[in-house]
Amino acid sequence: MMSASAGQRGCTVGIAGFGTVGQAVARILSTGTHPGLRLTHVCNRNIARKKVDWVAPDVVWTESFDDLLDSPVDVVVELIGGLSPAREWIERALMAGKSVVTANKQVIAHAGPQLMTQAGQQGRHLLFEAAVAGGIPIVRALRDGVSGDRLYRIQGILNGTCNYILTRMEREQVSFAHALAEAQRLGYAEADPTADVDGFDAQAKLAILIGVGLGCAVRVEDIPQRSIASIAAVDFLYATRLGCVIRQVARAELVPETGGIRAAVSPALVPDTSALGRVEGSQNIVVVDGEYGGETAFSGFGAGGEPTAVAVVSDLLGIARRTPVMVDAAYQMAGEPQPVTREFTAPHYIRFMVADRPGIIAGLADVFSRHGVNVDAVLQEPGWSKAELPFVMTLDECSSGAVTAALADIDGFDFHVRPPFWLPMLTRGKKRA
Ligand SMILES: NC(=O)c1ccc[n+]([C@@H]2O[C@H](COP(=O)([O-])OP(=O)(O)OC[C@H]3O[C@@H](n4cnc5c(N)ncnc54)[C@H](OP(=O)(O)O)[C@@H]3O)[C@@H](O)[C@H]2O)c1
Repeated sequence: MMSASAGQRGCTVGIAGFGTVGQAVARILSTGTHPGLRLTHVCNRNIARKKVDWVAPDVVWTESFDDLLDSPVDVVVELIGGLSPAREWIERALMAGKSVVTANKQVIAHAGPQLMTQAGQQGRHLLFEAAVAGGIPIVRALRDGVSGDRLYRIQGILNGTCNYILTRMEREQVSFAHALAEAQRLGYAEADPTADVDGFDAQAKLAILIGVGLGCAVRVEDIPQRSIASIAAVDFLYATRLGCVIRQVARAELVPETGGIRAAVSPALVPDTSALGRVEGSQNIVVVDGEYGGETAFSGFGAGGEPTAVAVVSDLLGIARRTPVMVDAAYQMAGEPQPVTREFTAPHYIRFMVADRPGIIAGLADVFSRHGVNVDAVLQEPGWSKAELPFVMTLDECSSGAVTAALADIDGFDFHVRPPFWLPMLTRGKKRA
C-alpha cells in the first residue's frame, strides 16, 4: 500500500542485498521499462565495493539498514538471503510501514504465516514470488490462477542444480562426483552443495508450496529429504530400460483420512514422457492436481539472477498498481503446523551391487515376500564383472516403510558389494476418488 503522494511519484524501492538477484533487480529498474518503479536506495555490507555507475546518480548507497527504514521508500526488497538477520529486517521494515518483497525461501518457509499476519496487521504487502521456483510465477498461479480448484497434490522439480547434475549423469553416463564437479565449475552449484544435493533447498520451497497451494502449515524440518548423492551411473541405464529418468522430486498431497499432509523430497524414477521427466538441465517445474481441473504444469527457469529478478519486479509492479493489500488467505489460515506423513505408496526400484553366487534372487524374493511386498521384475544387463554385479528388482506398489523394513533385513546378507539403493517409481499419480 502506498500513500497518495507515493502514487503520484511512483513506487520507491530500496534493495537490501546487492548480490546476484539484487543487481539483476537494479538493472531492470534502471532500464526505464517500468516508469512506476523508482530505485532510491541500495543497502549492503561493505558498500563501497558494490557501487556501480549504471544506476541513477541520486540512488543512495548505504551499509545501514536503518537508512532504508528512515527513508520514504515504499517497498524494501530483501535479497540478503539466510534466516538471520533477514527475518528481523523484514519484521522491522513492516513495522516501519514499508511493504516488503523477498526472494528468501528460508524466511518464508520458517516464518511465512507469522510474517504474513504481521504484514496484514500493518496494512502492508509481503510478497515472495521469487522464493519458489525463481522465474516461474507459481505463487500467483496457486493463489489466483487455480484457486477455483481444490488442489490435492503438488509435485515439482524445484532445484535446478540437482536437475542439472542428474541430466548430465543421464546423458554422459558419468558419476555423481564428476557431474557435481562440472556443475561447480560452470557456476550451477555452490562450493558447498549440501543444501541443493541433500534436498534442503527443495524442502523449504515445498513447505511454501504446501502453505500456499494446499492451505496447510508444516514445519520445514518435518518434510523428509533424501540426497541424490548415492545415485550411480548404472541407475540411469536401468531407468532407461524402464522407460524412466531420475529426478529430484518434491511432492506433497493431502491425506483425506487424517486431514494432514504426506510430503517428501527425494530422487525418484519418473516416466521419461511425463511432465517431470521432460524437464532438462537447470529448469524447474511444478505440477499441480486439482479435483476439477486435473493436472496443470508450470515450468521455466527456477533460478538465475534475471529470471528471479523478473519475479521480484512483478511483485513490485503488483504493489505499484496499488492492488489492495492481499494477505495470502490460504497461507494465513494455514495455522498450526500439521503432522507430516512420510510414507508414500508406489512401485519401487531397488538396485543391488553384489558378488555373484547362486541363490541371491531367491533369498531376496523370500525377504520381500515376508514383508508382504511383491517382486514385479528382475533386470540384469550383461557384460558386468561377477565380482561387482549390478542388477535391479522392481516391486509392485507398496509402502516406502515396507521397502525400508525389507532392506533392513536384506542388509544382513553377505553378498553385497555396495548397500542396496532404492527409489520410488512415480508412475502417473492416482486421481483422488
Ligand atoms: N541466485 C538465484 O538464482 C536465486 C534464485 C531464487 C531465489 N534466490 C534468493 O535470493 C536471495 C539472494 O540470493 P543471491 O543469489 O542474490 O545471493 P548473493 O549473490 O549471495 O547476494 C546476497 C547479497 O547480500 C549481501 N548480504 C548478505 N548478508 C548481509 C548482511 N548481513 N548485511 C548486509 N548485506 C548482506 C551480500 O554481501 P556480500 O557480497 O558481502 O556477501 C550480497 O551482496 C536469497 O534469499 C536466495 O535464496 C536466489
